[in-house]
Amino acid sequence: MDILHVSAECYPVAKAGGLGDVVGALPKYMNELGHTTRVVMPMYRTKFLYANEWEVVHKANTNMGNWWFEFTIIKEKTNKLGFELYLVDVNGLLDREKVYGYNDDNERFTAFQICVLDWLNAWAKKPDILHVHDHHTGLIPFMVKNCQKYRGLASIKTVLTIHNAQYQGWMPWNRSILIPQWDMWKWGMLDWNNTINPLASAIKCADKITTVSPSYLQELKWMSNGLEALFEYEKGKCVGILNGIDAKVWNPETDTYLQHHFSEHDYEAGKAKNKMLLCDQFSLDYDKPLIGFIGRLVGEKGADLLPQVISDSFYFIGRRMNFLVLGSGFPEVEARLSALKPLSQSDYNVYIGYNEGLSHTMYAGLDFLLMPSRVEPCGLNQMYSMRYGTVPMVRRTGGLKDTVIDFGDVNGYGICYNHASVPDVTHAVWRAAEVYHDKEKMKGIRQRMMNLDFSWESSVKQYIQVYSSLVM
Ligand code: ADP
Ligand code: GLC
Repeated sequence: MDILHVSAECYPVAKAGGLGDVVGALPKYMNELGHTTRVVMPMYRTKFLYANEWEVVHKANTNMGNWWFEFTIIKEKTNKLGFELYLVDVNGLLDREKVYGYNDDNERFTAFQICVLDWLNAWAKKPDILHVHDHHTGLIPFMVKNCQKYRGLASIKTVLTIHNAQYQGWMPWNRSILIPQWDMWKWGMLDWNNTINPLASAIKCADKITTVSPSYLQELKWMSNGLEALFEYEKGKCVGILNGIDAKVWNPETDTYLQHHFSEHDYEAGKAKNKMLLCDQFSLDYDKPLIGFIGRLVGEKGADLLPQVISDSFYFIGRRMNFLVLGSGFPEVEARLSALKPLSQSDYNVYIGYNEGLSHTMYAGLDFLLMPSRVEPCGLNQMYSMRYGTVPMVRRTGGLKDTVIDFGDVNGYGICYNHASVPDVTHAVWRAAEVYHDKEKMKGIRQRMMNLDFSWESSVKQYIQVYSSLVM
């Protein structure tokens, strides 16, 4: 089968979160099964762009409303990522340093989608499947079916994967002029609650929808930021497929970011050395259990709970553990976490920012990884941490519920709790501090986790089944 993924992120080209990891891995594993899978994304000014060689494969003019512009599609020359990678260059609009966070993000991603479809118009043999990810590419299923200039693409099947339904790309109706000449009577396919809603539009127009875990699909029917009724209505074309992890990148035996490697058969010394590195770098006491958090400092991830959880843990449980936080996000959460630093007694530190290398050392060197998420469509952190022998402490929600079993249950290996609340998370910290000293139990937990299989192989087969149901 011939598949084109259209995405805002793809690791290692540009990554803001788990979407990048997934789009950087899934196509590679699809190709290994004999399919032809390509990825197209915007050309941002990233390190990867400057470090690699590119060839121009297409250059043309197009328009978005009254604005006419030139765009260029470039291709990475060597296919080193395991798939053909294409970038869309629109001067001044897409070629910026960050992936998101600009006032004109709606215009940027709409222009990106127009360029992709204009380019596809020129393909002699069209792909069988257009696989779009999240709201940034959510107008594509509508456009291939309803825009006059894309009539030649109307037979291509579209699949939407929802990584996160919190963000929907809302646009006021006066932005409808951005979408190339479309069948006006179909306005209902763009609309949700009197705004253009690209995610809702994709849910209505895509031929199939996948969510990144089965539990998240169930949750969306009662908690999807206003789209509950739509999910209920469209449930017949939805399927939950758990993400995998790229076991080639996330392998503690070969991880290029790690100074000290280890395997599931021999991990104690390696993990200890990584922990030592973190303790030295962040002035932490090596003898205590090291509990970490890695991620966006936003409400979805429960990051606002961290300052109180850390203070309460020290106050009620005692200074029996270390905390290390890596992340960036809401300025208020960043400020509260930074304000705790002077109170540290060699048992707390925080790194505000994005640091890929540090995150790998943390997965390897932490004893526990805290994930008090309010919403977690899949979550990759808990899978990385388990592969690296670090015990996840997760709230039972979405993909966390689908991947972690509490160590108190049969064959369990993690710490689970029901509420994203300070008391529940603090109780989990207490359980971590207790179990840490039971060396036999910790050994059993680590061995069970590290032998789990979260590789992409089985999920990729489920995606292929979804495609096959559409084109065969
Ligand atoms: P989400 O995509 O919702 O942020 P995921 O768990 O799917 O959550 O993926 C997050 C990815 O981003 C992981 O690879 C994680 O290691 C990485 N990450 C998040 N924040 C940071 C950070 N500050 N520095 C380095 N890596 C980070
Ligand atoms: C989103 C979700 C996260 C998921 C990731 C990759 O960013 O928030 O839970 O793991 O996408 O699918």
